[in-house]
Amino acid sequence: MSNRILFVCLGNICRSPSAEAVVRQMAAARGLDLSLDSAGTGPWHVGEPPYAPMQRAARARGYDLSAQRARMVSAEDFGRFDLIVAMDPDNLRDLEQMRPAAGGAALALFAGYAPNIGTDTVPDPYYTRDFGGTLDIVEACAAGLLDQL
Ligand code: 4NP
Repeated sequence: MSNRILFVCLGNICRSPSAEAVVRQMAAARGLDLSLDSAGTGPWHVGEPPYAPMQRAARARGYDLSAQRARMVSAEDFGRFDLIVAMDPDNLRDLEQMRPAAGGAALALFAGYAPNIGTDTVPDPYYTRDFGGTLDIVEACAAGLLDQL
């Protein structure tokens, strides 16, 4: 079972912290014991809490992102996690390039767990400003991921 899961986006302040929090809450409701974390491919926000508008939108749905702090994904993460889940195809490509030759964690697109949403991308609300729309997609993908564990 893939019980150590890392969620990865670009900045680690919007999509992947939300994915971590939503999966954490849904997993607890299902009685699943998972080890979860999130990280970004970019350096800009390392050490920062999730973006305030993202935190507010998440809190309105009962997800608390306040304790999270941004970090960059590292080659060591491929040994620490069973599954690394990318928020969009650019993130996936970056992860494939940093993957150690020995393999390690499986790689997947988050949107692949919710084929009904009709996209391969969790839209980045840092740019779209549609935080609720992103949370809708994150919730659909989270449910699909947990169904497959
Ligand atoms: P995220 O959104 O990848 O969902 O955390 C972003 C937040 C900030 C930046 C990029 C993406 N940025 O370039 O600052």
